[in-house]
Amino acid sequence: MSDSNAKRLERYKRLIEISRDLASTLDLDLLLNRILVAARDIAEAGAASILLYDSAARQLYFQAATNMDPMMRGLVVPMDSIAGWIVTNRQPLRIDDVHKDTRYFKNVAKTVSLDTKNIIGVPLITKDKVIGVMEVLNKEQGEFNEIDEDLLSVLGAQAAIAIENTRLFQQSDLIAEFVHELRTPLASLSTATYLLLRPEISREQSDQIIANIHSETLRLSALASSFLDLARLESGRVHFQKSSFPVLPLLEECKTVMQPKADETRVAIELVVPSDLPSVEGDRDKLKQVVLNLISNAIKYNRPDGKVTVSAARDEKAWQVSVADTGHGIPEEAINNLFQKFYRVKGMETKVAGTGLGLSICKQIIVGHGGRIEVKSKLGEGTAFTFFIPSQ
Ligand SMILES: Nc1ncnc2c1ncn2[C@@H]1O[C@H](COP(=O)(O)OP(=O)(O)OP(=O)(O)O)[C@@H](O)[C@H]1O
Ligand SMILES: [Mg+2]
Repeated sequence: MSDSNAKRLERYKRLIEISRDLASTLDLDLLLNRILVAARDIAEAGAASILLYDSAARQLYFQAATNMDPMMRGLVVPMDSIAGWIVTNRQPLRIDDVHKDTRYFKNVAKTVSLDTKNIIGVPLITKDKVIGVMEVLNKEQGEFNEIDEDLLSVLGAQAAIAIENTRLFQQSDLIAEFVHELRTPLASLSTATYLLLRPEISREQSDQIIANIHSETLRLSALASSFLDLARLESGRVHFQKSSFPVLPLLEECKTVMQPKADETRVAIELVVPSDLPSVEGDRDKLKQVVLNLISNAIKYNRPDGKVTVSAARDEKAWQVSVADTGHGIPEEAINNLFQKFYRVKGMETKVAGTGLGLSICKQIIVGHGGRIEVKSKLGEGTAFTFFIPSQ
């Protein structure tokens, strides 16, 4: 592969990465920062900035920049500036020498203390509404070109959705949260298909993009079934089918299901069940789902060659199942959030696929049985989840 081709692939990859990344934050400042860094890198520019448009007040103002000066935030930019033109015309704009352009807004230049030479601005449009403008300034070498403009337009479309999303989330309910989660894989898919349609894409590049599409569709389908499970559980429409059953066969079935996944990272699954353990009561299928979820986590968040120990016990008051792993552990400040819908511990979420719904579903099922679920974790050593179901 030629140098420039390799470089271009790098930029496409970054675009896919970022579009997947964007919808994963609900903190507007954090989100804008990610967008800016991505825009700057993708366009190989010196700086990037985002202006937001308040359609009620018909005002355009500075919101964030890679080289943000605190003075800049909230600075109103006139509508006859470059950014104003983009909002009004809903079109990208590329200018090779801003000093020759009457729309250049010098007030910004002064505040930013950056000598602007060339610029690309793209509108941020969602649902037919312009919500702002994203600009990149000063190409590192030479001038901005059509590919830069193209890539930025795609990023701008994703960014607009993500920005709108974080706003939407503020008045969230389960549906809004779900829609938000849905948009993550959808954004990746739309970027991927866009890239596939580009004529200069090589076989190698398209294979990679197709692999990406495949994993994102898997994620979408997992998300849909988890969401349905959770929505049903939350609405109280689920009736538990209680029966009395022995624990060991249930755990053995779970082990069999999870073994292939465990083998991938050479994680061993061990069952520790006393041979004289009396039968227990509950909805066998639903409780199996809980155990599967816990074992799935114990494998996913384990280290290679790690171990998962599944144990069961019972006394007069309750019976319990515990799933312990030898993984990274969970930071203390995250423990309280684990059972929240869509919550995923920071840092891991990009490395391991998941929806953040598994534990919420577990909790609903356990609480529906009148029981409780506990977690104990030590960083660097591992985590143990234990659920207790009252004996009848
Ligand atoms: N055994 C574990 N060790 C370390 N972290 C864990 C463990 N179990 C869960 N977590 C953390 O808690 C988060 C929430 O777990 P949960 O099972 O709800 O969602 P998920 O595993 O991300 O997605 P899903 O279960 O839907 O595939 C995980 O993303 C992970 O960060
Ligand atoms: Mg899980």
